[in-house]
Amino acid sequence: MWSLFARSILPSHLVRTRRSIATIVSGTRTSRLVRDRLKTEVDQMRTEVPRFRPGLLVLQVGHRDDSNLYISTKLKAAAEIGIEAKHIRLPTTATQDQVLKTIWTINQDPSIHGLIVQLPLQTENCIDTQLVTNAVCPEKDVDGLTCMNAGKLSRGDLDDCFIPCTPNGCMELIRQTGVSVEGKHAVVIGRSKIVGAPMRDLLLWNHATVTSCHSKTPDLALQVSRADVLVVGAGRAEMVRGEWLKEGAVREGGGVGG
Ligand SMILES: NC(=O)c1ccc[n+]([C@@H]2O[C@H](COP(=O)([O-])OP(=O)(O)OC[C@H]3O[C@@H](n4cnc5c(N)ncnc54)[C@H](OP(=O)(O)O)[C@@H]3O)[C@@H](O)[C@H]2O)c1
Repeated sequence: MWSLFARSILPSHLVRTRRSIATIVSGTRTSRLVRDRLKTEVDQMRTEVPRFRPGLLVLQVGHRDDSNLYISTKLKAAAEIGIEAKHIRLPTTATQDQVLKTIWTINQDPSIHGLIVQLPLQTENCIDTQLVTNAVCPEKDVDGLTCMNAGKLSRGDLDDCFIPCTPNGCMELIRQTGVSVEGKHAVVIGRSKIVGAPMRDLLLWNHATVTSCHSKTPDLALQVSRADVLVVGAGRAEMVRGEWLKEGAVREGGGVGG
């Protein structure tokens, strides 16, 4: 997952010489800034309402190694900022009904304010993932995957919805560059519900003009060459070639999706 900014729109401190045209924006530093900000917000909440403790629950079906790692990272990060985080794991034999009933129970639990359904679900049964993610009550849907939150985001109600974390993180990285996306031409590769589509909506409602690309887009190189801001969420490493980019681009982030 990475974003690019043409030299022409960058502040001078982010632009290097012609030989060294890329500046990497540190995801670690950005993550630290976000965690510090959230910790301050949680502390403030708890000062205002002394017995209040925000509660997060991560629901997992199965025991995939990658999910286990993501969950332990989430629990650790939550604890660090003062959120009480719990983890429920259902076995791979869990049925759709059992998963839905668990979600309905958590929806009713006043001590849980945020519910994450860890995807993908690892199950021996046929489970409709969309039905499951949509069963989370929108007020607790901190991953922003319910139709209600996705719909609000697509209509630009950014202050009244939860935003999926990966595109939200990308926007935060873009903000850290000090460059406003307003009036820029942004290109997003990928249109999944979790990454590409919410990224497109976020850029649009932050006033970029957005082109959304997917596997049927002809001449991807041409679209990329027009981008002031490029976000790639296609799941194929090195799909975008350096020569497609506007000259002097700065690359920030770098990781799985890139
Ligand atoms: N899912 C997450 O929560 C998450 C979190 C962090 C990072 N990531 C990373 O983000 C990346 C994308 O994840 P995802 O869940 O969005 O993947 P996904 O559901 O597989 O979606 C991939 C998207 O890329 C498009 N695409 C594939 N090949 C393409 C090509 N040659 N040209 C243009 N578009 C192409 C697909 O187009 P079509 O729609 O036409 O098929 C689709 O919209 C992955 O690397 C993943 O590891 C995902």
